[in-house]
Amino acid sequence: MKYILLFLLWQFSFQMVAQVRIFNGAISPRTLLAEEKLKKAIKELKLDKKNYSIFLNLQSTLKLQKEALKRDITKEAFTIYANEKNVRITGNDATGILYGCLAYIERLKAVKNFPENLILKDAPEMVLRGQCIGLQKPTYLPGRNVYEYPYTPETFPWFYDKKLWIKVLDSMLENRMNSLYLWNGHPFASLVQLKEYPYAVEVNAETFKKNEEIFQFLTSEADKRGIWVIQMFYNIIVSKPFADFHQIKTQDRERPIVPLIADYTRKSIAAFIEKYPNVGLMVCLGEAMEGTGKDDIEWFTKTIIPGIRDGMKALGLQKEPPVVLRAHDTYAPDVMKAALPIYKNLYTEAKFNGEALTYPRPRGEWAQLHQTLSKLGTVQIENVHILANLEPFRYAAPYFIQQCVIGMHEVMGGNGLHLYPQASYWDWPYSADSISNGKILQIERDWIWYKAWGRYAWKAHRDSAAEIDYWSGVLAGHFGCTSKEGKKILNALEQSGNIAPKLLRRFGITDGNRQTLSLGMLMTQLLNPYRYGLFTLLYTSESPEGEMLLDYADKEWKKEMHIGETPVQIVDEVLLHATISAAGMEEMAPKIKKNKAEFNLFRNDTRCYLLLSIAYCNRINAALQILQFKYDNQLQHLHKAKQFLQDGLTAYQQLALNTSTSYRYANSMQTQQRKIPMRGFNGAYKHWREMEPVFKKEFEIFQHKLDSLQQRKESKIANAKPLIGIQVEGLNGQINLQERTQLFKDTNCPVLAIAPELKGLNALPFSFSRQIANGTHLSFSCTKPITVLVGFFQPERAAFSLDTIYAKAPELETNAGADDYGQAEIKISNAIQLKGLPPVNVHSYTFKAGTHQLQLPKGACLVLGFISANETVPIYNAMLVNDLKNRNMDWLFE
Ligand code: SER
Repeated sequence: MKYILLFLLWQFSFQMVAQVRIFNGAISPRTLLAEEKLKKAIKELKLDKKNYSIFLNLQSTLKLQKEALKRDITKEAFTIYANEKNVRITGNDATGILYGCLAYIERLKAVKNFPENLILKDAPEMVLRGQCIGLQKPTYLPGRNVYEYPYTPETFPWFYDKKLWIKVLDSMLENRMNSLYLWNGHPFASLVQLKEYPYAVEVNAETFKKNEEIFQFLTSEADKRGIWVIQMFYNIIVSKPFADFHQIKTQDRERPIVPLIADYTRKSIAAFIEKYPNVGLMVCLGEAMEGTGKDDIEWFTKTIIPGIRDGMKALGLQKEPPVVLRAHDTYAPDVMKAALPIYKNLYTEAKFNGEALTYPRPRGEWAQLHQTLSKLGTVQIENVHILANLEPFRYAAPYFIQQCVIGMHEVMGGNGLHLYPQASYWDWPYSADSISNGKILQIERDWIWYKAWGRYAWKAHRDSAAEIDYWSGVLAGHFGCTSKEGKKILNALEQSGNIAPKLLRRFGITDGNRQTLSLGMLMTQLLNPYRYGLFTLLYTSESPEGEMLLDYADKEWKKEMHIGETPVQIVDEVLLHATISAAGMEEMAPKIKKNKAEFNLFRNDTRCYLLLSIAYCNRINAALQILQFKYDNQLQHLHKAKQFLQDGLTAYQQLALNTSTSYRYANSMQTQQRKIPMRGFNGAYKHWREMEPVFKKEFEIFQHKLDSLQQRKESKIANAKPLIGIQVEGLNGQINLQERTQLFKDTNCPVLAIAPELKGLNALPFSFSRQIANGTHLSFSCTKPITVLVGFFQPERAAFSLDTIYAKAPELETNAGADDYGQAEIKISNAIQLKGLPPVNVHSYTFKAGTHQLQLPKGACLVLGFISANETVPIYNAMLVNDLKNRNMDWLFE
């Protein structure tokens, strides 16, 4: 009787609450998690329905409905059938069940009841939807090189924080992300021990154990959520103890493949596969090896793949673990061609917009590379990398993101996403915000970023009006306002999402994290980007068709038609985006009822973007004026430029003030690899307050130059005083420098025009071809101190490219001895015009009395004359150039 009563009680309770049942064949950690989440949601929503059942099943185990259902083998797909008595959530696989349950929970939350008569079928479009986390730091570790960060609790305390991992993995599941990439230079010496190379391990025994434990934890928790963990590594890097033991460098791009390193790497990979067969590998055939050529193919097919096969053999594994090949610093189509015959389970991955976000529909050769990879028959993953132009402000523009994902499918042929953190990649897990009570987690701060990419990776094409409603609702819910107000916030965020992409793609030097856009750009960088190593792919592939500042100004002068996106158009658009965005956030501020502090941080970011846009646009307008002056010599342009520069500086000073309390830094990569706007050595120039004096000084120099131009103009350049040349002992063949003089013995390039100061000096002609082969060597004696005037040609070329024709002018960045004779500074710019040759800048070398040797580097240059060291060489621009477009205006700021 007692048992009957208990049974009835149980029956009663059973029928009172809805039941979740997993069919036998479908039980796994993933579906158990699905069950747990369902039960939790039902409890939280306080839902109840007598005799109501929720069945979780795998499509393959369904007998009855199998024939009726159109067989669908799409991975992670699910179907939900609900009627008044039950709901059947059927997944094509365990992840499908999990995703089906999450979709069902969303429905429960929306209707606050068990929905009846629901039929929902869904599946993701992109097969791989991944996020990455860098096991990297903003600066190098002492005694280590780039990317070399062993896994230790001292360096990465967060790596051992299980609660944080659960938070990260749950947020990934929420956004239906199914892959997690860990980026590191050489992770193996932190994770495996090799009996042949016991000394290679670079963490102590206690840390090694911790690493094993956390790796097991992470991979099993990830697996529960349908997330595949992938370990990324660069090549060729060896561990520091291994390098020290063999007295070699940890990484050396020039080093050929050597058997010892190949064997060590092969064994490391084998041991890793053996220990973590469920962890995928992502291979970067660079940067620490000569990327494009035969080495990368050989390394991939003869070291890496055999290493994976050795690991498989040790485990008796038949199924090939998946391997992702990065198309970075390597020509991936050739590597894939060589590798596919010997290993099938390969994926490719390439950067979508470089290390930035610029344009949803890339063009040109970069798009072609993606298309070639996508046609190999393997899956091409689109990598949204670093986002150097979005750092550090919030980016929450779902429409731009949606367009990018559409572009990934339609233009690139991609079918996977590999998403970087929105900002502060090198500083995971925290954002750059400076707040009174600690630091903000990136996944929490940038929730819209992750949500939007996840949403569109799942399905890219969605009705635009419905999307506006969706996001307005999300924002309204988050900030506790009406959906109409949510829509205004959305509009403000969408507007601000255009600013950084448009500025970089029209004015930037590079798509790489060599440049931090939000810190601004020097005027010389806007006026002469070639000098700073312009990365032309940014303009030819990662931007819509359009014109750079230099081209725009040239066309204006020649009255030619403009094509595509112009600098002037972008100035107008950016100012409008920034103004609407900042005003919208101000307007909405009083309406916010929830998460007010967070809203204010968003609001501050739109203010910062407005100030940054005003600073940029004024400087661009100044540049446009200066470029007009370049053609017509009208000083009025420089006066206008001065006002623009002044206004830009004022906005920048306000930005420096705003960010001084709200941000710890602008850019998370704080090494010497960052060059634009200023070199980031030892963490320098990472904040606006450090840049502000640079811009101020730049303005002062400009003012000074403008003043002296004004004076020169008033006193008429014709009054310029020729320098008095002297004869120097020991130098034969000096000739009088005039128009038509030939300064090369073997080339017909007469002087066309010459600065009045240089006229009549005793120049020394050389053989053009011998200068290229041997450089220029002078031996001479003097009884009094003298100055030698040397002309260096200024071809338009990238700053870091090697010039084989013209001698390199003295440059302190690359040669600490470049000012031993006072020669570093340019004295007369564009000082002499030679037929068919680039503009010439004059530098001066001053020597004491005595006997001297002057050795100039290989390449053509001019020895224009000798004067007494007491004479002052004026510093100015003589503006003598063959092609006005190439006339260099940098002197106005230096
Ligand atoms: N430039 C490096 C890479 O592409 C870091 O972003 O791997």
